[in-house]
Amino acid sequence: MESTAKITVHASGTYDILISKGGLSGLGKAAAERFKPCTVAILSDDKVFPLYGKTVTDSLQSAGFRIVTHVIANGEQSKTLDNVTAFIDSMVKAQVTRTDMVLALGGGVVGDMAGFAAAIYLRGIPYIQVPTTLLAAVDSSVGGKTAVDISAGKNLVGAFHQPALVFLDTETLNTLDPSVMRDGFAEVIKYGIILDSKLFQAVAKPGSFDIKEVIARCIEIKRDVVEQDEFDKGMRGLLNFGHTFGHAIEKLSGFSITHGSAVARGMIIAAKVARVYGFTDYTDVITKVIKDYGFETGCPYSADELYSVILSDKKRSGADITLVLPKEIGASTPEKMPALQVLELMKKAGL
Ligand SMILES: NC(=O)c1ccc[n+]([C@@H]2O[C@H](COP(=O)([O-])OP(=O)(O)OC[C@H]3O[C@@H](n4cnc5c(N)ncnc54)[C@H](O)[C@@H]3O)[C@@H](O)[C@H]2O)c1
Repeated sequence: MESTAKITVHASGTYDILISKGGLSGLGKAAAERFKPCTVAILSDDKVFPLYGKTVTDSLQSAGFRIVTHVIANGEQSKTLDNVTAFIDSMVKAQVTRTDMVLALGGGVVGDMAGFAAAIYLRGIPYIQVPTTLLAAVDSSVGGKTAVDISAGKNLVGAFHQPALVFLDTETLNTLDPSVMRDGFAEVIKYGIILDSKLFQAVAKPGSFDIKEVIARCIEIKRDVVEQDEFDKGMRGLLNFGHTFGHAIEKLSGFSITHGSAVARGMIIAAKVARVYGFTDYTDVITKVIKDYGFETGCPYSADELYSVILSDKKRSGADITLVLPKEIGASTPEKMPALQVLELMKKAGL
């Protein structure tokens, strides 16, 4: 096994993110170095737990932790308040106390739910993230945003609650469905466009880089953003690049277009809008990379259709909308504008 990389986040809690290639069985040791022996309540899903549950459980048990597990059906449809309640019920039954911990073993769905359960159980207990998708590794496991979906929309109920440790073994990504892996690359490309042109160049050709190094760089970028704006009042909004349009595409498709694929198209729309807004035109550069990853690049919806969904987006404040636009590759900026201007720009950009 190669050496483990460590990135430390200083937010409302300070915690380490440990990144290894093949180090999953070292989780117990890493936890024992940081936390007293306690009960660890694992939340996982029915795809991930059969693959990695035993390694995680054995490792924690041999390091002196008591384990209880709760496994949910995989997929976004499981990210509900009812499932959080069921997980909390299982913790009550297992007599999990304030000095115990939650552990998320899985992708962003499990991570968001476990984090939210940890935020509200007994008014908050610590939790560990063990991300097993690329999206969870570079995005959702870091930064403390936790949430569940309700019928009115995705992620509408949640809390800020930073993890106590993030423990990632990049080899767990080897069992991912290729389309799930690709969705994660939409977020990787996003980091490059918003804040790091070198990262963008490094990942421009699929498969030509060391995935552990790329993940570590993305996490560093997210760490820097979270340290400056933990509660999403300013610069954390940069991470929404491609997401304003992406969320609209996702919703209009009835979620048949995946999040990553929608964000990829949303980044192309943002590049087109940036061009008509007066910034340098990076549409071709961005479209090429997204295409090379195998994403669809066209948007099946009109400017009017996208606009109607964008208007109902929870991130809209008042009559203005903030769009993150690429000024340069690696230097995107939030541009606040009247809502109607977004519609005009989209139309001018040919949508
Ligand atoms: N909290 C945040 O800051 C934040 C940021 C971005 C996204 N999110 C949330 O993340 C969620 C999406 O996360 P996701 O894309 O990881 O989805 P996911 O958790 O549903 O995982 C995708 C699929 O991959 C499977 N899987 C996971 N790891 C695997 C592995 N190693 N091998 C084989 N299969 C595996 C899962 O069972 C699932 O079927 C959304 O709910 C989104 O709202 C949160």
